Amino acid sequence: MSTGSRKLWGGRFEAATDAAVERFTASVHFDRALARYDLRLSRAHARMLGACKLIGAEDQAALLEGLEHIEQEIEDGSFPFDPALEDVHMNIEARLAEKIGEPARRLHTGRSRNDQVATDLLLYLRDAVQAAERGLHELRRTLVTRAREHLDTVLPGYTHLQRAQPVRLAHHWHAYVEMLGRDAARFRDLRGRLQLSPLGSGALAGTTLPLDREATARELGFAGPARNSLDAVASRDAALEFLAATAIAMVHLSRLAEELVLWSSAEFSFVELDDAFATGSSLMPQKKNPDVPELVRAKSGRAIGNLVTLLTVLKGLPLAYNRDLQEDKEPVFDSAATLRDALEVTAGAIATLRVDSTRMRDAASDPMLLATDLAEILVGEDVPFREAHETVGRIVRHCLEKNLNLRQLTRKDLAAFDPRFPAGASELLDLDRSLEARALPGATARETVAAALDASEVEITEALDTLQTETAT
Ligand code: ARG
Repeated sequence: MSTGSRKLWGGRFEAATDAAVERFTASVHFDRALARYDLRLSRAHARMLGACKLIGAEDQAALLEGLEHIEQEIEDGSFPFDPALEDVHMNIEARLAEKIGEPARRLHTGRSRNDQVATDLLLYLRDAVQAAERGLHELRRTLVTRAREHLDTVLPGYTHLQRAQPVRLAHHWHAYVEMLGRDAARFRDLRGRLQLSPLGSGALAGTTLPLDREATARELGFAGPARNSLDAVASRDAALEFLAATAIAMVHLSRLAEELVLWSSAEFSFVELDDAFATGSSLMPQKKNPDVPELVRAKSGRAIGNLVTLLTVLKGLPLAYNRDLQEDKEPVFDSAATLRDALEVTAGAIATLRVDSTRMRDAASDPMLLATDLAEILVGEDVPFREAHETVGRIVRHCLEKNLNLRQLTRKDLAAFDPRFPAGASELLDLDRSLEARALPGATARETVAAALDASEVEITEALDTLQTETAT
C-alpha cells in the first residue's frame, strides 16, 4: 500500500490505494501532454471565478501567479510529476497547493475533472488539427513541385498492377495532391465541431454555483458553452473524427509509400531514394532499402488501430463520464505524432527522390498500352464501341500469336479486321499524341495537368497563408 496523503479526493477514504491499482489507474505518464492546455484552462477558470466574486481578488492573483510558475516548471522540465496523483490535473493542483498554499484549495470551485479533461482534449485537438493541415499542405506543395519537374515524364498507368495506359508522372503525383487535399479538408471541417466548451458542465449535471460559462468559453477561444452538460463530459466524437481523418490520411500516405517501395525495386527501377531517406542492410553490403516508406506503410496500421480502439472504448458506455474515457488520450496522441512524422519523412523522400524518366518512358512505350486508342479511332469512324473493342481484342491476340508489335500493322493488316481503319497503326498510334489527345478535365494532356497543378498550387498557398495567420493570432 502506498500513501495517499497527497490525494485530492482522500476525504472519503480510510485505507490507502493498492500500489498495483495506483499504477493501473495512473495516466500522468501520457496525459502530461495536456499540461499546457490544462494550465490555460485553469487560468481562464480562476479569472472567471474572480470576476464572478466566487473567489476574492487576492486568491485570484495568487492562483494566477502560481499557475504561471507551474507553467515555467513544465516548460523547463523541472515539474515533479507524481504517478500517485493519478493524472495531470491533480498533479498540477497538488503542486499549486505546495506553491501557494490555501488559495489553491479554491481553484476547483464549480469544476470537475470531467469537464476539465473534456475541455483540455478539445484544446489539444485544435492544435493537432492545425498541425495536420499544415503538414498535409506542405507535402502537397512538395508533390506539386516535383510534379512540375516531371510534366514530360511518362510512365505506364496501372490497373490491377498491370500496365494499362500511359500517363504523365505529374498526373500520377497530382492524384495524391488531390487525396491529401481532401484529407486536409476533413481536418478543417472538424474544426467547426470543436467550437463549444465543456467547461462549467461540472461532473455531469452542471453546478449550483453562478459561474460565467460564456466568459471561460470565450477566453479559451470557443464560440460558446456546450449546450448539454451530459454530452459535454461524455462525448468523444471529436477525438473519433480526428482519429478517422488521421487514419484516412495515413492510408493515403501508405499507398504512396507502397509505390515508392515498388518503384525502387530492381524490377521497376523507376526511382531511387536519396541516401538520407534510405537505409542499408547490416548483412548485404550492396543493398539500399526503402525502410522509410515501408514504415509509413506499416504505421498506417497504428492509425487504423487507434481509431478502432476508441470506437470500441465508446460503444457500450452509458452516460455520462466513465473512467473508460481516460483511454481516449493515448490513441489521439499516438495518431497525431504518427501522422506528423509520416508527413515529414514522406515530404523529404519525395523532395529528394531520383526519377529514372528513361526507364519510365521505356515501360510506357509498349504500343499495346495504346490498344484503347485504336478502338476509339474506330468509334470516330462510327463503329459502336463494343464492336471496336472486340475488333481490337482480336488484333491484340493476332499480335501476341505472331509475336508482332502492334505498331507494325499496316493499313492493309488492319483492314483485314475492319476496313474502316483510316490508316496504318504506325500512323495512328503514337505515345505523345495519345497523351495529348486526353485533354478533358482531369486527364493526362500536358496543358490539362499543368493547369491542375497551377490550381492546386494556388489552393495550397492560400491554405498555408490562412494557417499562418491563424497561428499568429
Ligand atoms: N484522468 C481522467 C481522464 O482522463 C480525468 C477525469 C477523471 N474523472 C474521474 N471522475 N475519475 O478521464
